[in-house]
Amino acid sequence: MTRVYVFDTTLRDGEQVPGCQLNTIEKIEIAKALEELGVDVIEAGFPISSPGDFESVVEVSKAVKKPIICALTRARKEDIDVAAQALEKAKRKRIHTGIGASDIHIKYKFNSTREKVLQQAVEAVRYAKRFVEDVEFYAEDAGRADVKFLAKMVEEVIKAGATVVNIPDTTGYCLPDEFGAKIRYLFENVKNIHKAIVSVHCHNDLGLATANTLFGVLNGARQVEVTVNGVGERAGNTSLEEVVMILKTHKSLGLETGINTKKIYPTSRLVSRLMRMPVQPNKAIVGRNAFAHSSGIHQHGVIKHRLNYEIINPKDVGVKTSEIILTARSGRAALKHRLELLGFKLSKQELDRVYKEFLKLADKKREISDQDLLSLMGKRAKGAIYLEKVEVLCGYPLEPVAKVVVRVDGERKEAVAAGNGPVDSVYKALDKIIGRKIRLEEFLVQAITGGSDDVGRVHVQISYKGRVYYGYGADTDIVVAAAKAYVDAVNKLKVQR
Ligand code: KIV
Ligand code: ZN
Repeated sequence: MTRVYVFDTTLRDGEQVPGCQLNTIEKIEIAKALEELGVDVIEAGFPISSPGDFESVVEVSKAVKKPIICALTRARKEDIDVAAQALEKAKRKRIHTGIGASDIHIKYKFNSTREKVLQQAVEAVRYAKRFVEDVEFYAEDAGRADVKFLAKMVEEVIKAGATVVNIPDTTGYCLPDEFGAKIRYLFENVKNIHKAIVSVHCHNDLGLATANTLFGVLNGARQVEVTVNGVGERAGNTSLEEVVMILKTHKSLGLETGINTKKIYPTSRLVSRLMRMPVQPNKAIVGRNAFAHSSGIHQHGVIKHRLNYEIINPKDVGVKTSEIILTARSGRAALKHRLELLGFKLSKQELDRVYKEFLKLADKKREISDQDLLSLMGKRAKGAIYLEKVEVLCGYPLEPVAKVVVRVDGERKEAVAAGNGPVDSVYKALDKIIGRKIRLEEFLVQAITGGSDDVGRVHVQISYKGRVYYGYGADTDIVVAAAKAYVDAVNKLKVQR
């Protein structure tokens, strides 16, 4: 097996996304998780860009010892000086410097010429070599660059001492075979190419980042630049989990990474939570529905044998089990399976009867939860919570206070709590009743049509003892929808324990 190095840029390119900024403590937490995950390089920031980025590179350098810590610069001495300073405490360090390689960048970004840009590139690498042995050079917008000029640039920067050459498809423009051919061209035409590692760094503007990265690797690149959950500028960067699982799933490619794949899902959750960036439910590998089966035929197939419809064992990426989502399209086999997991063993006649009722309910509701099944069975989960009342006092400049009234196994319970906002106060009041250390991982509000009198839908994900539960609630009052979603998630936790 040939090793492909994983260069993670969640903390640099990933963190450039508006609204996803992390503070230094959060960056350290993610960097430690990336170390556990087994990435080879962590790009910790762009030190000259802000004092916060500088500090993050310093602190990540101190906190993380196994991976190489990398700092980004432009091809400028002042950037390189600051990066070298930020990396001082790193056990293994790399400076990542570079400049635009496409004529578009040369003309419209730098107002320069190919000759001048080439010279600046070589000088930047030579200068960075004064501080660190390991210098990576990026040829920005290589995806749209003239391949002959790119080859010249790559050859010159390797001569100047670059240990890694990064070929980015900065604008996510390339087609996979075109990008792969560009990498192949470099291997065939750059004399000293084997003195450096070729890296690929793809953006996802056309949804091709993973495919382009793969074609890069198939044509000789041995480092992939990726982010967790594919976060990054615009449509994002290549997602770590996709590339890693492609190589693991297709062993015949003869390529492997050093990633401990069982840590993929927990790392994805951590990044999503700290960046306040929900993962789309159908995201490959780490989306909520990535291992959820909802059509009857698929459910039947998976229940018979997982391999019928799953190419990855969910446990391999740290997801406990695959899920069977019951909908109006689910068949008897899925219903029977789900009921068995809830402890119900039914005869064929009983199953037929329940299946009819189930279909009626499923026509009204989109998804049938365990709670719905329990009520269908004329039984309630022990300890299930039924929301009776939500009252919130809030406004400016009041501190929001909520009172919630619920029924648990027929017993009325109420609690009052103050919080940062109306939803927070409701959740704190519910937490008092629930009495368990529940963590809110994700909170998403959607309006159905967008008007202010509209029904709001709330999706939440909570975690308890390392397991994640999803909840949904809808109401014209968004705070009530939030309460319903939380209770829905907590009740799933109770049924499943
Ligand atoms: O997309 C890009 O070209 C980059 C470089 C700075 C490496 O992020
Ligand atoms: Zn980038």
